[in-house]
Formats: sequence, C-alpha cells, structure tokens
Amino acid sequence: MIMPATIIIGAQWGDEGKGRAVDWLAARADVVARYGGGDNAGHTVYVGDKVYKLHLMPSGILRPQAACILGNGMVVNPVNLLKELDELHALGVDVSPERVKISTKAHIITPAHRALDIASEKALGNKAIGTTLRGIGPAYLDKTGRRGIRMGEMLSIEDFAEAIKKSIETANHVLLKHDEPLLNVQEITEEYVNAAQKLRPYIVDTTHYINQRLREGAHILCEGAQGTLLDVDHGSYPFVTSSNPSTGGALIGLGFGPKYVGDVFGVTKAYCTRVGAGPMPTELFGDIANRLRGTGENFWDEYGTTTGRPRRCGWLDLVLLRYSADINGLTSLVITKLDILSGFDELNIAIAYDVDGVRMDYPPSTIPELERAKPIYETLPGWHDDISHVRRYDDLPTNAKQYLQRISEWCDLPISMISVGPERDQLIVMDEK
Ligand code: IMP
Repeated sequence: MIMPATIIIGAQWGDEGKGRAVDWLAARADVVARYGGGDNAGHTVYVGDKVYKLHLMPSGILRPQAACILGNGMVVNPVNLLKELDELHALGVDVSPERVKISTKAHIITPAHRALDIASEKALGNKAIGTTLRGIGPAYLDKTGRRGIRMGEMLSIEDFAEAIKKSIETANHVLLKHDEPLLNVQEITEEYVNAAQKLRPYIVDTTHYINQRLREGAHILCEGAQGTLLDVDHGSYPFVTSSNPSTGGALIGLGFGPKYVGDVFGVTKAYCTRVGAGPMPTELFGDIANRLRGTGENFWDEYGTTTGRPRRCGWLDLVLLRYSADINGLTSLVITKLDILSGFDELNIAIAYDVDGVRMDYPPSTIPELERAKPIYETLPGWHDDISHVRRYDDLPTNAKQYLQRISEWCDLPISMISVGPERDQLIVMDEK
C-alpha cells in the first residue's frame, strides 16, 4: 500500500540542501507542508537562471500543482512572509490563497521577539548560541508560556491590534531592564494590522484540510527545516533551535497521526557543516575546511542563506548520522553535494568516537562529553573526476560509489538520491538508474 505522507528531514545541523530533494519530491506531491521553525530557515532552489531563496514558504511552491501549507508548528513573521509572497509573485509563481494556506494555530513573530533574541544573545556574551536573530526562541517561549499570539487572531482585527500592542508593551519592560532601545508600539501595531489585512485570506484550519486530503489519498510531503541535530529535544542542547525539526515534529506541527506516514527521507551532505556555536566532533580547520567551504563567490558555497555567516566544515560524521536515523526512523538517505568532494586523494568518515579513552558508537548525550569526543576515522580513497554531469549511479567513479556504499552500510539504510551540483537536474535518483 502506498502511504500518503512522506517526510523529508535534515539529518545534520540544517543547510543539508533539502530544498533540492524537496523540489524533486514535490513534483509528485499534492500538498507540500512546512511544520516547524520560521524564517531562520533558508532553502535555495536553482531553476535555470533563476535562484529562489525561500525562508518561510515550502520549496514545493515552485511546483505549480502542489498546494502549500505553513503548519501550526511554525512561527511566522508576517511582514517577512508578505515580502516573500511578493517576491515569488514577481517571479511569476502562483501564491494565491487557493494554493497557499497558513494555519490559524501558527504563532506570530513580532519585532519584540527579534529584539529579545538580540538582547538574550548579547547577555550570553561568549556563551551565545549564535542564533539567526530572527526572534525564533522568544516566539516559541511565548508559545509554551501560553501567552503567544496566533495567526488565527488576525481574523479579528481589533482584538489582534490589542494583543500586539500589549505584547510589545510587555517586551518593552524587559528591554528596559536589559538597557536595550524600546520599540515603537504604535508603529508596530499599525504595521501588523496592515499585514493582517493582507494575510487574512490565507489563514485557515490547516489541520482539518490536511486530514481531509490524507483521507482522500492525496500525497502530502512534509518539508523539514533546520536539522535533527538542532532539535530542542534531541540536538546538542542548548546549542539548538527552539523547535523539533525531527520526524515527531512533523506530526505535531501539522496535526496528523503516524498511520499515514510512509517514507522518511534523511538529507545529509557528503560532509558536515554547522553554523552557530556548539560541539562538532569532525570539524576541520585550515586548507581542507577552506576547500569544503569555498570562497563565497558561488551561491552554493558554504555561507548561510539567511545570515551569510561562513559555515563550519568537517568530515562526514556517521556516529551522528546513525543517531539521526534512529531519532527520525529514516527509511532512506539523500546525499547532497557529493561533487564538492571531487579532487581529494583521501576522504575520512567518522565511524565512532573516542571519549576519554572509551570507544563509543553512539553520541554521548551530554555536551561536555560530546565536546571531548575525538572522531575515529575510516579513510577511503578519493576521486578526481568531475561528477557534476553524472546522472546515473553506475556512471560515478568507483571510489565515489565505494564512499556512498560505506555510508549506506554504516547507517544500514539505502540511498535514494544523490545531488552532484546546484541545478535542479543535477540529481541521481536511485530507483531511476
Ligand atoms: P535560532 O533558530 O535562530 O534560534 O538559532 C539556533 C541555532 O540554530 C543556531 O545555531 C543557528 O545557527 C541554527 N539554525 C537555525 N536555523 C538554521 C538553518 O536553517 N540552518 C542552519 N542552522 C540553523
């Protein structure tokens, strides 16, 4: 039986290149839904000479037959959402309310959340998380503190204006204590009321919509943002985001049950990157890191889509990838950016850790131990051929195939897709070989 829901997850620290795989899967989906996070995410999809940078919209928006959902698990900055809708519209993408639906239960990010994010990072000094400063943490804090404002409140403008006003006033008390500049209550309230008027047609009960579509047998693609190792429960806390990017988050963040779930794709780069602070056992410095990172001249180099920060780079970490497979119940792996590894004589993959002289095949669950973990590497021969034109697995160099095989064996998972370049068609799809 073909299960109607497919989940696609970042298996590392985000920025795995999920947008590409989502774009391919979305061509076969009726609905594409984001279930967590906000505009801390950045998905880049390249189609011909057009570059689409998406922060809040699911990447599925670029496949015209798919309806797009912003689920209840998300935190939405309405002003930035409107900007993104305008930009997509200008590029000829249909972003009408018939296609784009925002959950009444999604929470709203205000300038107060952004200001509090900045203040909190400043107060942490050299212990800062390195957040994207988009107000994500403070917005989820208001959600779990039961004082958040939800998109559904936009449907009653007067009450909404009052709620925004009150929340900015409350934030101003906190900002005053932090010696931070105060926010203009009047200006923000007007801006948000204006945004509410424009967004109202998009706001619906997406839980009901999704369940109805699932019952009809429609194919729903749940699009993860960030990655498993940034999960507030399962990541390297506190160096995490404030939501659950892993599989469980998809069910909570959209409101449907596991009986519908079929494939769970885990997207991983062929190496590792991370932005922000926190442990990264296989991190490299110097020549190899610089080579993986690129110069920043190309749009696919390792610099953040949202913040422009250079990403930390390292060898692939299979200890963490296996962990990610467990947390998410992955059914296959999508390996991205394999082309970046062309030209190395040898490649390392971490297969275990040495923590204080003890071999561990599973990542330690406390930060101090994870910080002391030294990777135990398996070294594999590299390849020098340019693989960016390869479209069939069999046409990859033998050593590239061996590299992929080892990943698949160590994780005990099949590989379903491999990307070999930034363009939409630079993709090897395994069952199409
Ligand atoms: P926040 O989500 O802005 O609170 O940031 C918390 C942590 O998650 C920081 O280390 C960020 O760099 C990281 N983060 C958040 N979103 C992304 C993403 O889309 N890609 C990569 N890292 C992210």
